[in-house]
Amino acid sequence: MKALVYADYGDPLTLVDVPEPTCGSDQVRLQVHASSVNPIDWKLHSGALRFLRPIPRPAVPGLDVVGTVLESKASGFAVGDRVVARLGDVPGGAAAEQCVAGADVSVLAPAGLDTAELAALPLAGMTALQGLRDDCGLRMEGDDRRVLVVGASGGVGHYAVQLARIAGAHVTAVCSGKRAEMVRELGADHVIDYRERDDFVSDAPYDIVIDCAAKAPWARFREVMAPGSHLSQPTPNGGWMLAFATSAFTSKKAHFTMLKANASDLGILVDHMQAGRLRSVVGRTFPWTELAAAWEVNKKGGTAGKIALET
Ligand SMILES: NC(=O)c1ccc[n+]([C@@H]2O[C@H](COP(=O)([O-])OP(=O)(O)OC[C@H]3O[C@@H](n4cnc5c(N)ncnc54)[C@H](OP(=O)(O)O)[C@@H]3O)[C@@H](O)[C@H]2O)c1
Repeated sequence: MKALVYADYGDPLTLVDVPEPTCGSDQVRLQVHASSVNPIDWKLHSGALRFLRPIPRPAVPGLDVVGTVLESKASGFAVGDRVVARLGDVPGGAAAEQCVAGADVSVLAPAGLDTAELAALPLAGMTALQGLRDDCGLRMEGDDRRVLVVGASGGVGHYAVQLARIAGAHVTAVCSGKRAEMVRELGADHVIDYRERDDFVSDAPYDIVIDCAAKAPWARFREVMAPGSHLSQPTPNGGWMLAFATSAFTSKKAHFTMLKANASDLGILVDHMQAGRLRSVVGRTFPWTELAAAWEVNKKGGTAGKIALET
């Protein structure tokens, strides 16, 4: 089969013939139909995370996938089923004609849901869900508290806006002005254009914050957070590590959100999608073989929602 392979950190992605992946127990082997870009893909490739998450090389990148089951060694999945999954960081593998996915991170894809929209969902959607619900305590029904989503038009952010809205929250979204209408359509009550202002001040303090942009320091958030509030930070730098430690002793808490991929949360998101409550905005689509170009677009920013890759 064909796969995009990098020989070492930072090396070019090359389209080569490789053996088909082996399906282990509790795994499915998939014919890949679509994947999507997440910043972690090019961060892992660059080697920037090598001390936290070393990647055995040569490597095939790609963590989100939608595909058809070619072989199943997992109960609940049969040959011919369409599946959506979030592959493990090691080995990744979605940038290929076939990949293997664990049953613990795979969900049957309901008929009728768009393949690219589904492929956009796993990593970014679960991060938004876990950041809001698990780290910040958002109750997923009947929670009318005030939520701030920074980076609201991007991958994680646009799911966070919708999930907060599904929960019943009042949502303030921070994004560039050209995406204001999009985030309002997704459920934001109030929009702040970060190109016009660099504060997050609204008419009342926030109970829950998710920072999907990683541009502003903890101090800027703390001043707009209510006592008893929580912030989810999926992209911590050194300053944030100090915030996580010190905020544990204050009434405004900062949490490092680290995705724990699992089929249960992915199933919750797919159910919301099937019910028409949640959707993926796919701002750009590339053929899967043009992954390097898709990464460059993601690095530059400015895309609405997610970038999908189609086979
Ligand atoms: N820890 C984890 O498990 C985990 C999981 C998923 C993601 N992450 C991290 O979370 C971050 C977000 O991921 P993503 O997939 O959502 O990335 P993304 O799609 O690139 O979205 C980032 C968003 O931030 C916006 N932005 C840029 N500068 C801003 C500013 N000054 N103020 C407000 N918004 C600004 C961008 O808007 P414009 O395009 O308009 O500039 C874009 O919509 C990345 O660093 C990623 O690596 C971590």
